[in-house]
Amino acid sequence: MSNAFKLKISHVSFVNLGCFDDSPDGILFIAEAEKNIPFKIKRVFFINSLGKQQAIRGKHAHKQGEQIIFCISGSFDLILDDGNHSQKFGLEKSTLGFKIGPLVWLTMKNFSPDCVILVLANTYYQEEDYIRDYQQFLKIVHQK
Ligand code: TYD
Repeated sequence: MSNAFKLKISHVSFVNLGCFDDSPDGILFIAEAEKNIPFKIKRVFFINSLGKQQAIRGKHAHKQGEQIIFCISGSFDLILDDGNHSQKFGLEKSTLGFKIGPLVWLTMKNFSPDCVILVLANTYYQEEDYIRDYQQFLKIVHQK
């Protein structure tokens, strides 16, 4: 599937889930490590119950870890910032994933009540890999 997004920020690219349309008996979506997913998947998590209109998630960057974010139900806004540019993407249920490399500040908001976000990551959860302070993030980016 092609995508309509034009990327202005670094360390971000697109990935697609495989899709097998068995309608009306369902549609299968497929992620295979080191095939359509360009890394060994160490962790999968999903986020649902995003019922609160004002909820804001993310607000962090990773030092090394990579992740791929999919909107698999509903919709939300994904805001990505590489320290030089910021870009907002309106995501709707799709097979399109955003592959987000290190040193990208990400924020998620404006969730529809039925929103489900699927994340595939190439690392186990490690709090030490997070940068949770935006000023520190900018400092690290501009030191490089
Ligand atoms: P966080 O990554 O801040 O969530 P989001 O980016 O969606 O806002 O995670 C919130 C908390 O959940 C974090 O403090 C620890 C826990 N957590 C884990 O234990 N393992 C995980 O893989 C993730 C993503 C979070």
